[in-house]
Amino acid sequence: FSTHTVNEKGHIQIGGVDVVELSREYGTPLYVYDVEDIKQRMVAFKEAFDAEGVSYQIAYASKAFSCIAIIQLMKEYGMSLDVVSGGELYTALHAGFPPEQIHFHGNNKLPEEIEFAVKSGVGCFVVDNFYELDLLNEILKNNNRTMDILLRITPGVEAHTHDYISTGQEDSKFGFDINSGQADLAIEKSLASQYLQLQGFHSHIGSQIFEEEGFILAVEAMVREIKRWNDKYANFTLNVLNVGGGFGIRYTQDDAPLSPGRYVSAIVQAVREQMGAIGLPVPEIWIEPGRALVGEAGTTLYTIGSVKDIPNVRKYVSVDGGMTDNIRPALYEAEYEADVANRMNDARNETVSIAGKCCESGDMLIWDIALPSVQQGDILAVYSTGAYGYSMANNYNRIERPGVVFVENGQAQLVVKRETYEDLLKQDLRYQSQSNCTS
Ligand code: LLP
Repeated sequence: FSTHTVNEKGHIQIGGVDVVELSREYGTPLYVYDVEDIKQRMVAFKEAFDAEGVSYQIAYASKAFSCIAIIQLMKEYGMSLDVVSGGELYTALHAGFPPEQIHFHGNNKLPEEIEFAVKSGVGCFVVDNFYELDLLNEILKNNNRTMDILLRITPGVEAHTHDYISTGQEDSKFGFDINSGQADLAIEKSLASQYLQLQGFHSHIGSQIFEEEGFILAVEAMVREIKRWNDKYANFTLNVLNVGGGFGIRYTQDDAPLSPGRYVSAIVQAVREQMGAIGLPVPEIWIEPGRALVGEAGTTLYTIGSVKDIPNVRKYVSVDGGMTDNIRPALYEAEYEADVANRMNDARNETVSIAGKCCESGDMLIWDIALPSVQQGDILAVYSTGAYGYSMANNYNRIERPGVVFVENGQAQLVVKRETYEDLLKQDLRYQSQSNCTS
């Protein structure tokens, strides 16, 4: 889907915009988003569902990247939205996102967050545990409102990228367990409440999933229980089945994700088959892609600074960001690919390692990558940083969070300003000594 090209100067262009010029105009580090790439992905997911002729919702998991501009884009393309905190909800509402298309997730929704979501009129709660079930019921009662809910279930399938682990009693902080009877009890409580409207179930089996298999296994596991629940609870009808997110993307050449269409048709087919087998109608199918919508669209630009060459050992090339704008390599040993944005016509004649500027040996962005020989001031472009880069950015070492630029059709738009030193001090208050020590 990407619009990356190389121009006559040998510079990377994204969305028809020379990124070296972007780096001069907005400074680095800078997150650059290829808007066309995001649009095509949204359309691909939608077209796949439309082709299947089922009812569906595609809820963008905004934890992957949340700011007003991206939420506006999701709204424009008819996405629903998954939020997991008051802050994500606040951002979505500020962006003008329709509350009824917002799904509220999370394993420890705070009383004030629940109150805020209820009063804002969010469309659905994905209820995670008994504490929440009771609290939500109470808050709805006090506000004299009802709420559609899904119960989050641990289906006993966990994706480890290429492996699926089937666990009997799922050991997870999320959701209601099936085997211990927790899920049954949650259903009974929901059905007994006049404020909770149980629409169906949710499962999420993991992230960076590269085949259909995990989703099919999760659907099978869920529908097995749905059959049982349908027999057991006369006043229960399944309206929604949410199979979560986790659709893989390409971080490096080794990653081979499926197309949105492949994931969707496998899921729909599995739901059709399984529901058909138990003689029940196909419910509305919901998915929650995060990185699959925004991950590959993002590129981070850095300026290269110090270079440390240890003969016969390693050449460290340092950039002006690091674990503050992309914590994934330090946190998950995540791998990335990069280019020198202003030397696209030069041969990759050196193997170097890309270091961040934080005071941590672990702040390495990429180990052993072949690049052209670099100089101070060159621009490094690290690809596929659009998900969980900005959203997990932090101010370690009091480094300012970078800005975000959207590019499209030869135009660039700043959508998040880079933080300033003043921003770093915004919440700080001066200490006043309370002691009278005179000695
Ligand atoms: N739905 C639920 C219930 C989730 O927990 C998640 C991710 C998603 C959807 C979206 O997953 P995606 O499609 O983006 O893979 N910070 C980590 C990943 C943690 C994801 C947590 N939940 C990372 O940088 O990879």
